[in-house]
Amino acid sequence: MDGTAPPWVKRVVDARIFAVPPYVAGKPVAELQRELGVTHAIKMASNENPLGPSPLAVQAVRESLQELHVYPESSAPELRSALAERTGVSPDSVILGNGSDELMEMCAHVFIGPGCEAIMGEISFSMYRICVEAFGGAAVRVPLKDYAMDLPAMARAVTERTRIIFLAIPNSPTGTIVSRADFESFLADLPKERLLLVVDEAYREYVAAADCPCGTNYVAMEIPVLVLRTFSKIYGLAGLRVGYGIGAPWLVELLNRIKPPFNVNSLAQKAALAALDDRDHLERSLQTNREGMRYLSEELASLGVKVVPSHANFLTFCLGRPARGTYEALLRRGVIVRHLGSFGLDDCIRVTVGKPEDNRRFIEALRQVLKAAS
Ligand SMILES: Cc1ncc(COP(=O)(O)O)c(C=O)c1O
Repeated sequence: MDGTAPPWVKRVVDARIFAVPPYVAGKPVAELQRELGVTHAIKMASNENPLGPSPLAVQAVRESLQELHVYPESSAPELRSALAERTGVSPDSVILGNGSDELMEMCAHVFIGPGCEAIMGEISFSMYRICVEAFGGAAVRVPLKDYAMDLPAMARAVTERTRIIFLAIPNSPTGTIVSRADFESFLADLPKERLLLVVDEAYREYVAAADCPCGTNYVAMEIPVLVLRTFSKIYGLAGLRVGYGIGAPWLVELLNRIKPPFNVNSLAQKAALAALDDRDHLERSLQTNREGMRYLSEELASLGVKVVPSHANFLTFCLGRPARGTYEALLRRGVIVRHLGSFGLDDCIRVTVGKPEDNRRFIEALRQVLKAAS
């Protein structure tokens, strides 16, 4: 049996499902080992925390293992209250997702149908487009300007049919942000009663720039804003799948109507709660990222590649010529990064900031690959 659907499936499944572009993920270490026999590979491809999970989260998971036979509390009251307290909102402004991916899908489920449009950056997180097209909407992809969101162009793209705008701050895969002033004039340009603004802050904890808007300051405005955050990045819990949304209580109530029950499992709830309190893990993660970012930026610049200034835990660099060969040569040396061809940046590669030894290994491998190609 191969993966081709039998002919009747095409008759009964809406054609738009066959047109949805598949999500391209970073290559897992085990897959590289299976495919190329490469051992001791390092993965710097999916913006995971190189220090691993918070030890307090691991401990919390261990302590919960005997309760696996019990369904989780679907509304996750403890975790929602803790998140509400930290973000200065009420618990009924918080919704949890099986990763923030699931919250994007819930937004599309509620707001998108055939004939609707959603606006997003042309080069941005690919799940926005996937969710919108899966629910029969059109993804309006606005070109970036200098690798950053072009907010005036996004505002101009709004039509009567626009139902969602997805804005990633910082953006992935470019790591760029927008200024508070630009964000606020963008908000002022938007219609108040027609659409939802999703501000995806998966990397917000890494941002040091004082001028970067913080989505949670805007959730009480007239325009509905849903801020998305995740435990997959700085909290190091990508494998457990926990994301959260902050928005007006009426919006959260609406999304809750289609939220699958028990979508965040009991171990994930406990781990996320413990990770929130682990200041030490958070500080170490930030410091590792700061130092790694400085090192990688300097070394990449010295190798003569163009580096896009990033505010997150990854860096995009561009070779000015197709980069797939470089990506593959790095794979053969056991260094997994992301070639950005699937985002339309064929000459660029994204690398996640790793531990100091990973960063050095990546730079050394890249140095050799670029030298061999010159
Ligand atoms: C911009 C952005 N948003 C959301 C996500 C998904 O996060 P989660 O693991 O919470 O689904 C990612 C993951 O890479 C991302 O880059």
